[in-house]
Amino acid sequence: MSTPTRQVPLLDLAAQHSQIREEILAELIPLIDSQRFIMGPAVGELECKIAGYTQSRYAIGCASGSDALLLAWMALELGPGDKVITTPYSFFATAGSLARIGVEPVFVDIDPLTFNLDPNQVEDVLKRNTDVWAIQPVHLFGGCADMDPLLELGQKYGAVVVEDAAQAIGAEYKGRRCGAIGAMGCFSFYPGKNLGAYGDAGLVTTNDEELAKLLDKLRLHGGRDKYFHEVVGINSRIDTLQAAVLKIKMRHLDHWTEQRQQNAANYMRLFAEFDLPITLPSIAPYQTRHVFNQFTIQCEQRDALKAHLAAQGIGSEIYYPLPLHLQQCFSELGHEKGDLPISERLAEQALSIPVYPELKIEDQDYVVRTIAEFYKAAK
Ligand SMILES: Cc1ncc(COP(=O)(O)O)c(C=O)c1O
Repeated sequence: MSTPTRQVPLLDLAAQHSQIREEILAELIPLIDSQRFIMGPAVGELECKIAGYTQSRYAIGCASGSDALLLAWMALELGPGDKVITTPYSFFATAGSLARIGVEPVFVDIDPLTFNLDPNQVEDVLKRNTDVWAIQPVHLFGGCADMDPLLELGQKYGAVVVEDAAQAIGAEYKGRRCGAIGAMGCFSFYPGKNLGAYGDAGLVTTNDEELAKLLDKLRLHGGRDKYFHEVVGINSRIDTLQAAVLKIKMRHLDHWTEQRQQNAANYMRLFAEFDLPITLPSIAPYQTRHVFNQFTIQCEQRDALKAHLAAQGIGSEIYYPLPLHLQQCFSELGHEKGDLPISERLAEQALSIPVYPELKIEDQDYVVRTIAEFYKAAK
């Protein structure tokens, strides 16, 4: 087999770090010298910045995006016997955060174009279930779920809307930032996210003062005053070193987002030159800012295409190969293949290709040509 002419990884974090290395070190070295690692000043500074950025009144940092979700459910005092409607087409934490406190995820299928919860199907499920206390849309791949109908349904059926905005910092729905639309917004700063830490970190946003106070306590074992616990919480502080890294990265986030958007637009143009059996990502009419955490195509012969790309030095990833309702750990819910057909089809056809900010146009051209060659050879 011949050596690929280029290497195009799915994501190149080293390229991003090299641009900001000096800025990061200038922030981290004094912090390390001060040894103030737990809830140091960078935590509050980051929280202020993110509250402003997401147009939320409050932002509460925590240890990961998974914990952000867990803290949100804890703040709503959900537990065994309660149900939350959510999407089966997401990262595991979306449903895992519910299951680990005994809440039943009620999976509802998605819109095939946006990959996000289908509000029409949500209403059908709400009509049949009386113990649904929340609706959890996920703004998948940087595109928003259709929030207005979900909020209306929440009002009508008495369910709180909590946004899993892990992949969507800066995304906008009708001019409103994701994470500030529902009662709470949960963010992940996992390194591969648009705003990625140098390890794990997460955050919850809210406009509700009472929820903000409770979340602040819950992440600190249930009490702001050391050794006094008003409620039972968990240890889920955001690491001060991570907060400092994120604070610096915030300066660059809009520029990186614009580069992602430009790369997405480039793909649209480049793919338009070929007639290929693939569906490109679509931007919903209500979406005023897509942040392209992923550029995900739907394609025929997906696994063979992925192998072909790998052989040509191109990274790609399957988000997600098995929908959540079919995961072994949720077998007790009694789902079978065929229950949620759109999610199941996407699990077989979706492929995310490189869209990271530092990607070069020549790399994109190479990715598109390599995909076109694959389908030409398969004819
Ligand atoms: C949609 C979604 N929800 C939740 C999470 C969990 O975030 P973390 O990995 O920071 O725990 C992620 C991140 O992978 C995610 O993509």
